[in-house]
Amino acid sequence: MAVVIDGKEAAASVIAAVTEASASLESETGVKPGLAVVIVGDDPASHAYVNSKGKMAKQCGFKSIQHSLPADTSQETLEKLVAELNADPSIHGILVQLPLPKHLNAEPVILSVSPEKDVDGLHVVNAGKIATGDLATGLISCTPAGAMLLVNRIHGRDLSGLNAVVIGRSNLFGKPMGLLLLAANATVTMAHSKTKDLGSVCRNADILVAAVGRPQMVKADWVKPGATVIDVGINRVAAPDKGEGKTRLVGDVAYAEAAEVAGAITPVPGGVGPMTIAMLMANTVIAAYRTAGKTAPGF
Ligand code: GUN
Repeated sequence: MAVVIDGKEAAASVIAAVTEASASLESETGVKPGLAVVIVGDDPASHAYVNSKGKMAKQCGFKSIQHSLPADTSQETLEKLVAELNADPSIHGILVQLPLPKHLNAEPVILSVSPEKDVDGLHVVNAGKIATGDLATGLISCTPAGAMLLVNRIHGRDLSGLNAVVIGRSNLFGKPMGLLLLAANATVTMAHSKTKDLGSVCRNADILVAAVGRPQMVKADWVKPGATVIDVGINRVAAPDKGEGKTRLVGDVAYAEAAEVAGAITPVPGGVGPMTIAMLMANTVIAAYRTAGKTAPGF
């Protein structure tokens, strides 16, 4: 039976370190880390995420501000707000919650965030730094950074000799995750919907990372015995066993059967999920340290 990787506990230890780093920055320099979150429209799930980001920022001792814009906000208004936040010295991190309403184009909005304040790590400058192996001076996208921290807990920081397979190639997760694994010396395969015989590709993985958005797609016979399985999926599915109309969250991995084969596995919920917010807080405190001309802590 696999070791269950406790993302809640790992996230709590990152949050404790961030809170301490924030307090010492403020006492030494008077700088209080500031995080601005921008949300457009009224998608309830996005609002729930944004509220928990704001709450966590306050818990870390940050200045936390939220801009909630109506669903019909124009591209120009949104980019103007980002420009104001770029110019605001009390704000060190800016996050524009995705997805944006359909009439808005996310790419120019992401590019309008100053790379030094891009705590989502989505700006091409930050994505490019990961691609060139510069993990020290940019900001790393939160979910891959959090997933990587969980991998490091099992394998340490050097993944030499290990095969890693990432299923999914999004800019938000799959691509940066593959690059972080590569920077840690893993031999990386980036698999996706067009990959032939995905099961046999996955069976080669010492570290298998699933980020496809398909409930329980990764079965036990895709998992190499003893492998570390990182499940990034969050899918809401019907759960008639809990009562009519009830739902539950499941990952991209068929957890119960995969846990019989894996060496270590992240649960859903309680695995990678809590790490995303923790790494967002880490990026914000890192950005604040840099602005204050101080060496940023590592997490
Ligand atoms: N929506 C879902 N995940 C994320 C994320 O990590 N960052 C942003 N900005 N939006 C998201």
